Amino acid sequence: DWNMPDYMEESIGRIRSEVGRDEVILGLSGGVDSSVAAALIHRAIGKQLTCVFVDNGLLRLGEAQQVMDTFSRNLGVKVIHIDAGKAFLDQLQGVADPETKRRIIGREFIEIFQREAAKIANARWLAQGTIYPDVIESAGGKTKKAQTIKSHHNVGGLPDTLHLKLLEPLRELFKDEVRELGLALGLPHDMVFRHPFPGPGLGVRILGEVRHEYAELLRRADAIFTEELRISGWYEKTSQAFAVFLPVKSVGVMGDGRTYDYVVALRAVHTEDFMTAHWAELPYTLLAKISNRIVNEVRGINRVVYDISGKPPATIEWE
Ligand code: XMP
Repeated sequence: DWNMPDYMEESIGRIRSEVGRDEVILGLSGGVDSSVAAALIHRAIGKQLTCVFVDNGLLRLGEAQQVMDTFSRNLGVKVIHIDAGKAFLDQLQGVADPETKRRIIGREFIEIFQREAAKIANARWLAQGTIYPDVIESAGGKTKKAQTIKSHHNVGGLPDTLHLKLLEPLRELFKDEVRELGLALGLPHDMVFRHPFPGPGLGVRILGEVRHEYAELLRRADAIFTEELRISGWYEKTSQAFAVFLPVKSVGVMGDGRTYDYVVALRAVHTEDFMTAHWAELPYTLLAKISNRIVNEVRGINRVVYDISGKPPATIEWE
């Protein structure tokens, strides 16, 4: 249990003496860990840090803009924004198997990141937002079993072809301490307290083949869901909540016309450790409002269902 402002100053000092005048690169995902690592390292070494933000086209509505606004515009961090949506979609074309999709997204990310990183000629360090639970996990802790159910691809775990030294300033911190540090560094509350988002993004929330059209529909439905959760105070009361795109068409009626459109499922869970989870008992009035808004505002979706499965036997994500 650290005193966060003291810990921050100490950590800044350590980063400065470790890095000296070297250049550092960091893969920024928009998630809590890489964001806090970026803000901390930037506070320590300023322009010697270059962040690479790979937009895989599978992010949530407005997310790329948010990341660029927070880091580049507000904090003055050097961020290279790689708009790689098309590259990822091309690789994913015709692929329906969840694990294959994960592998493709992970591989594509590494390729693009390495290519961009190699352009930063003087870089000697690769910074990562590894936190203490990740350290335990890779040492063979209790979460090993979960990894064999779904292979996880994150910003971390890059192969060592860049021959960079690793800078991992969050290695001793638990998640709540990382959040506290993020606030001390002046990151926005909503960014620091965001629900976790999987590395493969909407790639595993669009069931089966990933298509641009599906991603667009899902982004808009998901944004409505999140907005209503925030307004009603339910965002903080759930551990994770999101929409899932089902590539299934069903019949509906709108005005005096018949529709034949897609379905989205809403998922909201409570969990302590993400190993087990309970579905959240959202109020019916809230579910009704969200469902109405999605069907009225997102042309192409005419049916909304709510997932009432626990983990186990279901997992939190649908893929
Ligand atoms: P499941 O679906 O296995 O998810 O119950 C447990 C937690 O892990 C997240 N998750 C992932 N995170 N890459 C990630 O970085 C992945 O491939 C991945 N798959 C699931 C999920 O969002 C939940 O928080």
